[in-house]
This record gives sequence, structure tokens and C-alpha cells, in this order.
Amino acid sequence: MDKQILEVYVGAQGGDEGKAKIVDEAAAYAQQHSHDGRKHRRTMVVRFQGGDNAGHSVYVRASHSDDKTSELVKFVSHAVPIGVASNSDIGFGPSVALNPLSAVHELQEAREKFAYSGMVLISERAGVLLDYHKRLDAWRENSREQKIGTTKSGIGPFYEDNARRDTRISFADYVSENFPDRLRDVLRAKQLELEAAGIFSDCYGKGSNMTFSQYLEWLLAEHQEARKELYFSACALEYVLNDYLRSGHHLIVEGAQGTVLDVDMGTYPQVTSSHLLAPHAFASLGLPRKAFQVYGIEKIYPTRVGAGALPTLAAEGDPFAAVADDAGEFGATTGRRRRVGYPDWVMIKRAVMLNDLDGIFLTRTDCVQDKELKVCTAYRYRGRETSEVPLDLSKVEPVYLPETFSWHLWGGPKNLADPSQVDAQLRPLREAYVQGGFSSLPGELQRYILLHDNFVRCETVGVSIGPTRGETVR
Ligand code: IMP
Repeated sequence: MDKQILEVYVGAQGGDEGKAKIVDEAAAYAQQHSHDGRKHRRTMVVRFQGGDNAGHSVYVRASHSDDKTSELVKFVSHAVPIGVASNSDIGFGPSVALNPLSAVHELQEAREKFAYSGMVLISERAGVLLDYHKRLDAWRENSREQKIGTTKSGIGPFYEDNARRDTRISFADYVSENFPDRLRDVLRAKQLELEAAGIFSDCYGKGSNMTFSQYLEWLLAEHQEARKELYFSACALEYVLNDYLRSGHHLIVEGAQGTVLDVDMGTYPQVTSSHLLAPHAFASLGLPRKAFQVYGIEKIYPTRVGAGALPTLAAEGDPFAAVADDAGEFGATTGRRRRVGYPDWVMIKRAVMLNDLDGIFLTRTDCVQDKELKVCTAYRYRGRETSEVPLDLSKVEPVYLPETFSWHLWGGPKNLADPSQVDAQLRPLREAYVQGGFSSLPGELQRYILLHDNFVRCETVGVSIGPTRGETVR
């Protein structure tokens, strides 16, 4: 009898670690193991925080995932859990910033691309992110002297409204017939701020100088279809999830962003506005920690978009900085080029502690082959060496191990910015490593992992060597 799969995946760095690929693999595996001998098991992938500031990219085969000859198609989800790519059920918890228009759009795309037919479940407690959140975000970011570099998806203003209470529109409000009244009340409560930000005076060119009432009518019309489309998704998700748990179904919780962007524990104020550490998944979804395995996703080199320190930054001119172009390090949400740093184990050790990780998936080990890797194992801060991460990262200097690491996986193409270009060439090489397992990886990579695990006090349970489902050595 196959085991029930109960897993949480979170980012161990600053987002963009490759969570989507690992979560998609977990969900696809769970879908393949959908019989427990007596009955059919469902699989649900649940988001617990953040909104469409996230960009989750996967590469899937155009026709069917088992057809190893078909072309790779890139699918990027922002609002919906990546479970759509494996035809799993998907869920949105109460702490999610739900942009219903993005969700409906992406669901439509998933239906067209892979005939998505799973259940879509949205906590009636989730807040709804609307047009004015996004435009307030952009307005504030543009007027800020010290930039945060937000994705302008409305995340900051949304979470403020959530906490303020009289300005939160819950998903239950959204699908109810009282939505117009609720929206009017909320807009009234925010009217001064919205006017100051010029929200009514230019509505994406859809009518300049709108009045309050015209803006309200415009918003209602924008959401008419989405409200119908999502009407049956509203539920008391905590009960559904616990029923799933008791009934033996598979549950996979998908984090967005990453540890250093947590609103309390991250590099404040250059953080996102949600609580994204794994313990919050349990608090916000109403699930028991003890039932789950918690995994952190760590890209072998850290990256950062937007403002905020990256202690091990490879400066322009450093040969390691070229990884950004070779590996296609551009934001899936904003298209911004990510800054790249050398491996920072101090940061990972803290992520293991904060997220209470049971295991790590190390991604993009193929993207740094033949490069010389320095490894940061301490910081110099205020004149002394420390293994702790201080709040103000702008003043730390990395202390690197005296030795460096380098490994070679294959003689084929090294520019992996567009995986579909090199797919056919590299697929058999990657498959050989997957078949061979951990001991078939280059000795230097194995040594790197053993030292890493020892230092960060957590075991690497998977090593990703390619962008497609299944290209992970375990
Ligand atoms: P916000 O979440 O749009 O408010 O942006 C706050 C900070 O988080 C900015 O530095 C963004 O670049 C960063 N950020 C937000 N979402 C992601 C993500 O999914 N990956 C990486 N960085 C992100």
C-alpha cells in the first residue's frame, strides 16, 4: 500500500529557488500513487501566503508528461498553485492575497494547456486583492525614497487592509450578493488615500477622472465574470484539509517567496508583507505540524530581485556573475535581472532553524558546473566573526572557506537560459544521473553536499540537475 504524502515546501533563500519544479514533481508523484489498495486518493496542492507577486515556472511536455519525445512547454503561474500542472486539486488558504482576475486567467490557461480539471477550493476567509491595491503599491513605490523594489502586485497595501479589518474584503464577501455594498464601504473607508494617490483620476485609460461611483461601477463590472466563475470554490478550507488528512488523501503545501523575505524574520524593510515561514503554513491552514514533512528549497547560489542586501553578491566583472545570464536569472513576474551570489551557508543554516526543515532540495547544480564556487560560512560584522545573521545585512562581509568547489556534469551545452533549446541533447545525460542516484554524481558535488549538510544541520534529500519534472537525483 502506498504511503499518504503530506509535505510542505518553502523557499530557504529569497524566492526563485525552483520551488515550482520540486512541488510539481511531488504532486505528479502523488498523483501516480493515487491508490491505497482500496480507494482512490486525491492530491491537493495548497498555497498558504502571498499572491501573484510569486512567479512559479515549470517546464512540462507539450502532449503528455510521459511522452519523452514531445516538446517542452513553459508554464508560469503567479496566483494559482503549481498543482494545476499535475491536474491536482488546488487550495488557497486564509493568508493568501487572492487576485481573482489572475486566478481565473491562469485557470483558463491551465485548462487550455493541460486540460486541467481539478477542484479549486478557496478559503472563505482569504482576502481579495483588487485594482486599487496594485495601484497604491505602484504609487507608493514610485514615491518612496528608499525603494523596496516591490513587484507592484499590491501585496503591501493588501496586507495592510487585511490587518486594518474594516478594509478587508473576504472571499465570502466577494462571492456573496452583498459584494457591491461591502466594496462601497471599503472604498469609503479608503477614499482619502485613494484620492491622494490619484486612483480615480486615471483608471488604466479606461476613463480618466472617474468619480467615486464610476470607479465602484467599473470595479464591479471587472469582477462580474470572476465572481461567477469562482462562486463554488468558497469553503471552510480548514475543515476540507483536515478531512483530506483523515481520509488518506495527499496534501502538498506550496510556499511562495523565501525565508529572507519574511515580513518579521527577513531583511526588513526589504521584505514582502506576508508570513512565509513553514510554521505559518500550519497556523494559517489549521493543519498539524507533526503529520507533515517540511522541505526547504535551496538554489545552489542565492539570488535577489528588488532592493535588499545579498552578502555574497558576485559583483559585475566577477566570473560567477555570468551565472545570471547563462541560467536565465530573470524574474518570472517582473522580468528584472536577478543579482547572483556565492553559496551562503550561514543564511541556509538559519533557514533550517526558522522553518524547522526535515530536508533540503538543492536546485540548479547543473547551472554552476565548471565554475569555481566559494562558500560563505561566517560573516564579519562590527569587527568580529559571527555565524549569526544580523538584522542589518548591509554591514556584513562574507567569510569564505579557504577551499573552493567545482564539478563537471556533462560536456554538452552550458548555457541553460532557455531549457527548451537544449532539451533533446541533455535529456539522456540527465536521465543517466537520475538512474544512477546520488553516488553517480561527480565526487566534488557529493563532497560539497556532505559538507553543506553537516554545516547547516539538515540533510539534502534531492539534487536537481535539470528543469523538467523527474530531473532530480534522490
Ligand atoms: P512585494 O512582495 O511585491 O511587495 O515585493 C517585496 C520584495 O519581495 C521585493 O524585493 C520583491 O522583489 C520581492 N519578491 C516578491 N515576490 C517575490 C518572488 O516570488 N520571488 C523573489 N522575490 C520576490
